[in-house]
Amino acid sequence: MKKDIERVLIDEAVIEHRLDSMAKEIEEDFPAGPIIVIILLKGALVFAADLLRRIPRELSIECLNVASYHGGLESSGTVDFLDRHFPEVKGMHVLLLDDILDTGRTLAAVAQRLKQEGAAAVHTGVLLAKDKKRATDVKADYVGFQIGDEFVVGYGLDYKGKYRNLPYVGILKLSAAT
Ligand code: IMP
Ligand code: MG
Repeated sequence: MKKDIERVLIDEAVIEHRLDSMAKEIEEDFPAGPIIVIILLKGALVFAADLLRRIPRELSIECLNVASYHGGLESSGTVDFLDRHFPEVKGMHVLLLDDILDTGRTLAAVAQRLKQEGAAAVHTGVLLAKDKKRATDVKADYVGFQIGDEFVVGYGLDYKGKYRNLPYVGILKLSAAT
């Protein structure tokens, strides 16, 4: 795996330090009462696991499978909901977590669906946000790191299903992106 990485962009210690402050922000912002966290699989899995253990609040966790990338380097432009059931979010404060804000289509589509399903409020958090023009007018409430418009892997993010278990965020070598 390591041999396919051009360079480390954000190392593990820096990520962990930032997660401490993100967790604090979230804890202070959310009103008392039930919180439901929605994790977008599979990319947000590692980020969410590390973030949520830093939030000493009662919360419930649901996961959603959506597809927007279909395994390549470019966004496909459509967002498909792959689960048979959608979590019950009526009247709930939702924290929606994804790995990265790229075109913004995924977060926008899921946030819209959550509102349709009657969520009282939808807050969004991402580990990374690419510095680029979004396809839709969407922002994340909590952003771990702003990065350039480069393809990254690790800490949950994949290229064709690989590299999710790297403990850092890195840039893939062009030779590995086949
Ligand atoms: P968006 O809908 O274009 O914002 O794309 C969001 C999804 O695309 C993320 O949840 C990722 O799965 C994937 N994605 C976007 N950029 C990257 C990247 O640089 N590396 C790996 N996956 C990415
Ligand atoms: Mg992905």
